[in-house]
Amino acid sequence: MSSATSPLPATAPLQNSVHTYGRVAKTFHWLTALLILTAIPLGIVANNMPFETGEELARKALVFSIHKTVGITAFFVALGRIAWAVTQPRPAPLHPDRKAETLAAEVVHFTLYGAIVLVPLSGWIHHAATTGFAPIWWPFGQNLPFVPKSDELAETFAALHVIFERVLIISLVLHIAGALKHRFVDRDVTLARMLPGAVTIPALKPHRTGLLPPFGAVAAFLAAVGVGAALGLFSHSETRPGAPALEQVASDWTVQDGTLGFSVAQMGQPISGSFEDWTAAIAYDDTSGTGTVEVTIAIGSLALGQVTGQALGTEFFAADAHPTAIFTAEITPDDTTEGATHLATGTLALKGTEVPVTLPFTLSITDGTATMSGELVLPRLAFDIGPNYPDGSQVGLEVTVSAQLTATKAP
Ligand code: HEM
Ligand code: HEM
Repeated sequence: MSSATSPLPATAPLQNSVHTYGRVAKTFHWLTALLILTAIPLGIVANNMPFETGEELARKALVFSIHKTVGITAFFVALGRIAWAVTQPRPAPLHPDRKAETLAAEVVHFTLYGAIVLVPLSGWIHHAATTGFAPIWWPFGQNLPFVPKSDELAETFAALHVIFERVLIISLVLHIAGALKHRFVDRDVTLARMLPGAVTIPALKPHRTGLLPPFGAVAAFLAAVGVGAALGLFSHSETRPGAPALEQVASDWTVQDGTLGFSVAQMGQPISGSFEDWTAAIAYDDTSGTGTVEVTIAIGSLALGQVTGQALGTEFFAADAHPTAIFTAEITPDDTTEGATHLATGTLALKGTEVPVTLPFTLSITDGTATMSGELVLPRLAFDIGPNYPDGSQVGLEVTVSAQLTATKAP
């Protein structure tokens, strides 16, 4: 039932009225629509782009950077839009007597309001929790306060981003279908009063939005997160894909504790990784300061955050074909290299290639416990690691390897 008694000419004012949206609300609405309808295809395209070669990765990163920059813009426009909307009356429905339809439209409106904040925010948190991928093009940095670098956090928010983005797409489809129904089935001015320009609106009584629509929107998000969890979207990827554990080795010195880490630039930003499973057979004479060492590294024990799987593939470590790397070296005292007391001079066999390598390190022995720490830079192309990324712009050419361990002398 239309409550039209006398048609009111609407003059497209700045502010909303009970009859129509004002110019500010309309501008916010269509600007948000433009940004979001741009961000969605960019996100889908970017996500599906291959990244087998340096050029492909550069193209993918470019599309992701555009996606993120458009998405962040949408986020701030959405905040402005919501800040404006809370100061404004909401135009009354044209058919308030159609209770179910009105409620459905309002639930969708609240869901859209929620999604235009949650979708970019979850994407942004995902971005801030990872390192070294396509940057947002702006001067305000890539991190967020209170968001630590964490693979688990990044994966959780990547899943939330996809879940919220699906809620957004479904509610948008319903929203657009509703707008078209008003235009072509009901032939009323619902769409016209959101479009630019003035339109004649029937006289309407103010409409009270109860608590049901916002609660309906919250329920829609909770249900979507529940479906996402049931589909396993939150289960974290295995960082160590089941490489057989290395056997303990017989050694004069037994390693008690240690780390074998490395860092490399990805898109110009450093990312760090480590090997979790390695053994060291050490013979060392503390009177002469000489000895030998053989370090065996299980390549499959690599932990490199979200790119672990790619790093283990044929292009990089080729873990299936070359499951272990071996560093064999002679230990000699050294007083010429700054910051080192010893050198381990030998070869590193990695990915089927043997390269001479010297690791300078410091060693101190107290009460039968040896503590060593050393660092060296390896040129990854010498080991045929990432040959399709030859110029270092996507994946740095130099990899800084650092090793620390404590070992005790076998009785
Ligand atoms: C990403 C895109 C979009 C978003 C996030 C969005 C969001 C919203 C929201 C939250 C409202 C409620 C405003 C309020 O009363 O406070 C609204 C109203 C409206 N939107 Fe959209 N919208 C989008 C795209 C579209 C498109 C493509 C159409 C047209 C085909 C459209 C047509 C309308 C109409 C006609 C209204 C007014 C409904 C009424 O008067 O009850 N929207 N939109
Ligand atoms: C309104 C804003 C946004 C919309 C509508 C949106 C939408 C999307 C869509 C549709 C996808 C593809 C997911 C799929 O293939 O199913 C996606 C992926 C992605 N988006 Fe957004 N996004 C927005 C904002 C952002 C922002 C601000 C960032 C980061 C700063 C971001 C980062 C990402 C990332 C990293 C992915 C890949 C996720 C993955 O690894 O699975 N997005 N986004």
